[in-house]
Amino acid sequence: MTGTAARTPWEAAADLVVVGSGVAGLTAALDAVAAGLRTVVVTKDGVDEGSTRWAQGGVAVVLGDVAGDSLDAHVADTLAAGGGLNDPAAVEAVVRGGPGALRRLRGRGAVFDGTTAVDGTPAGGGTSAARLDRTREGGHSALRVVHAGGDATGAEIERALVAAARSAQLTVLDGHVAVDALRDTAGRVAGLSVLDGAGRPGILHTPAVLLATGGYGLLYASTTNPATATGDGIALALRAGATASDLEFVQFHPTVLHAGPDPAGAGRRPLVTEAVRGEGAVLRDRTGAAFMTGVHPLADLAPRDVVAAAITRRMAETGADRVHLDATGIDGFATRFPTVYASCRAAGIDPLTEPIPVTPAAHYACGGVVADVDGRTGVPGLYAAGEVARTGLHGANRLASNSLLEGLVTGERVVRAVLADRGGAARSAPLRPAPALPVADRAVVQRVMTRYAGIGRDATGLAGASDAVEAATVTAVPVDRAGVEDAALTLLAQAVLAAAGTRRETRGCHVRTDFPQRDDTHQQASLPVRLDADGRPVVVADTLVGAA
Ligand code: SIN
Repeated sequence: MTGTAARTPWEAAADLVVVGSGVAGLTAALDAVAAGLRTVVVTKDGVDEGSTRWAQGGVAVVLGDVAGDSLDAHVADTLAAGGGLNDPAAVEAVVRGGPGALRRLRGRGAVFDGTTAVDGTPAGGGTSAARLDRTREGGHSALRVVHAGGDATGAEIERALVAAARSAQLTVLDGHVAVDALRDTAGRVAGLSVLDGAGRPGILHTPAVLLATGGYGLLYASTTNPATATGDGIALALRAGATASDLEFVQFHPTVLHAGPDPAGAGRRPLVTEAVRGEGAVLRDRTGAAFMTGVHPLADLAPRDVVAAAITRRMAETGADRVHLDATGIDGFATRFPTVYASCRAAGIDPLTEPIPVTPAAHYACGGVVADVDGRTGVPGLYAAGEVARTGLHGANRLASNSLLEGLVTGERVVRAVLADRGGAARSAPLRPAPALPVADRAVVQRVMTRYAGIGRDATGLAGASDAVEAATVTAVPVDRAGVEDAALTLLAQAVLAAAGTRRETRGCHVRTDFPQRDDTHQQASLPVRLDADGRPVVVADTLVGAA
């Protein structure tokens, strides 16, 4: 909803405000409290409602106990999946930080699947050294992914972090939406404006705001993301003067349960984890033909962008609205994949005896707010970690199960950065009226993004989508969560369409039907996006000069 917000704001103070409560946000908040920082977590729903809890596959990490695997191999797989746009230093830092971060997560109580130790201690609990189980996902050259509860890894991580947060008596403002970073006259963060569930404005005075708000899957009608994934953190950062990048690389998960046509705005769709293919399931078209062989040397376990694009092509070729994932050969499916099994059964499908109908759906934002692996965004006092950030780990296509890894590693590193950056004069935020923002109808945004900015984009469709979003846009002051979210989705739609129109090649998750080749000569560069003087997102550097 939008309108005029004219109420007197309530005020509070903190050393660090963390926006979002997924793996990166809670890891950072817990470390910040342990370091003695007065820390407040701001979250739109409950503290356990972010994207993390829906992650199934696991955490990609090299612990040194799998023959033939190595940190170098994990780095190489991440770079190969990323299509030439990763930042190699970021990849090294995150991959090499993984084992320690996982150990500390287990120390906080997260229990991973594994063999039971001789003394009866479950392998995955605490700091037990007994061996953890591994699975494989697309693009990985080794069995490298540790998991919990079979296919409930995110839920277990979230459970452990929320329990630790309760023990640490972390201050959580649930049901609050962050609106804008407030900055002092030198441009440094001095506070955060928020709205509570009743639309009452508030100000948190703070020198440090960490955005850990997740991605923007809600730009699309069909997504694996929860309803919170509306791009608010990226929109907030752009309005504060930060740069975003790689926004055109929206990763579609190849296999989401297809239980009938998606009604517009249907919300989160049930994932069928890639680990199901890691354990031997095969994709088949409507005739029963296994179609990934010959598409990529890793066949069904090719990187996710390759599999999602191949499924989309095969659906177009056969006129079907789904393909099928044949998992009938997997022993103990219901125990190994209890979440997927339950989703299938709820949809009337028995994966033990029949193939699972699947389609791709929007899953992960490979791009985001430009930040280093310590979370620094370039706006003093504004940090970003997890899916909201573009650290250079993912490039043009994220390697499966590298996201929980990134959240764990950068969530820890950002607190060290906040501590190192402290000091100087106390900052005070000028109280300004909330600004009016462009807001388009969410249903229009989702319809045109789904139709024209999914897997398979072209210049005509992207331009038409921009015009449609423009025509559906009015200017208004957001006065509640829906208003803030719709303004963020509008800004993200404009930004994704601008970047996707500028990148005239096919690379990673960005598939252009009118430019089907990858163009390393002219286009092997990320596209920075900033707001212009009118508040419109624009691709600022013509890094793709000379492109076809
Ligand atoms: C999956 O389990 O297939 C999703 C894991 C991920 O997105 O990294």
